[in-house]
Amino acid sequence: MNVLRFSDLCDQGKARGQRVFIRADLNVPQDDDGRITEDTRIRASVPCIAMALEAGAAVMVTSHLGRPTEGAFKPEDSLAPVATRLAELLGRPVPLKRDWVDGVDVQPGEVVLLENCRVNKGEKKNDPALAQKMAALTDIYVNDAFGTAHRAEATTYGIAQYAKVACAGPLLAAEIDAITKALARPKRPLVAIVAGSKVSTKLTILQALANNVDQLIVGGGIANTFLLAVGLPIGKSLAEPGLVGEAGAVIKAMAARGADVPIPTDVVVAKTFAADAPATVKPANEVASDDLILDIGPQTAARLAQQLKSAGTIVWNGPVGVFEFDAFSRGTETIARAIAASDAFSIAGGGDTLAAIAKYGIDSDIGYISTGGGAFLEVLEGKTLPAFEILQKRAGG
Ligand code: 3PG
Repeated sequence: MNVLRFSDLCDQGKARGQRVFIRADLNVPQDDDGRITEDTRIRASVPCIAMALEAGAAVMVTSHLGRPTEGAFKPEDSLAPVATRLAELLGRPVPLKRDWVDGVDVQPGEVVLLENCRVNKGEKKNDPALAQKMAALTDIYVNDAFGTAHRAEATTYGIAQYAKVACAGPLLAAEIDAITKALARPKRPLVAIVAGSKVSTKLTILQALANNVDQLIVGGGIANTFLLAVGLPIGKSLAEPGLVGEAGAVIKAMAARGADVPIPTDVVVAKTFAADAPATVKPANEVASDDLILDIGPQTAARLAQQLKSAGTIVWNGPVGVFEFDAFSRGTETIARAIAASDAFSIAGGGDTLAAIAKYGIDSDIGYISTGGGAFLEVLEGKTLPAFEILQKRAGG
């Protein structure tokens, strides 16, 4: 993807003494007392900020936090806890600036955090007047917010239109590179794992991947709808019978390309959805009318693990079973460990997937872990994200 890269500008000394505006995605989960419960996105944003400081820039950083009402700042919307964590990680003070659209006082070698950008009126609707004001604050606009790259808002899109220079930060660039490696120029066989509770929320992803991947492994409630599509019983498992036709069409499209949707041959069932419900392994064609399918069976998991071993590229979104309950976690664990052990380039994204990666401690064995939730899913759908589109345009490509 042809975009200007901030790292190149820094290497060329073009950031020295310049006012640099970084749009990061510091939208992290917090508990009821406002304490950050998971700081991956803050840590992932540090290299860009450090790069700008080392390059001698005057650095402004902003992000959204949650979905606040524009023009009505509330204490819980504040990036204050983020400023504290960022200061710890950078080992320097990170002052938080409340009202910043009309001017920011920051000197080269300093960094300031600009309060929740979604509190500014016009942010969500990408208001041109707001975007122009923000563009006037900076010499170089850097988008490093992959998690928000699917939103065309004033800090992710409009400002990139009007800033003197608009470029991609190292995190955004790394995400572009990993996605391109996995989906545009994959080493084959390319295997995708798409799991989750509903086909409806991931139908466009399944359809897009059906045209590209060599194997499409489905899991969770999504797999149940596929089991129905091939005429297998699913008892009272979560499924969307209304989408059986679409699931069948995905299987057909894959088969027409000589590709395959591996349907589970055995499953783990229970009579109730509970952590302590007795788990029974059954052949997929013997599921009873009062059974709930909560995981893939050991035979299926072993077969899929074998296929993942010989993959060239693996794209992973979603656990294949209820991995939060130990009795129904083996399928996801087997898949996770197979991905970790595989020589394939692997890319993983999505909240539940990241939780599974953390649970099995395999983060260092995954080729690339995306910081995007919704953004990662839109990439899998084959969409060009607005943040990339405008940076490409600005790069003349
Ligand atoms: C996310 O958490 O996925 C991103 O920060 C985007 O947040 P949004 O869905 O509120 O735009």
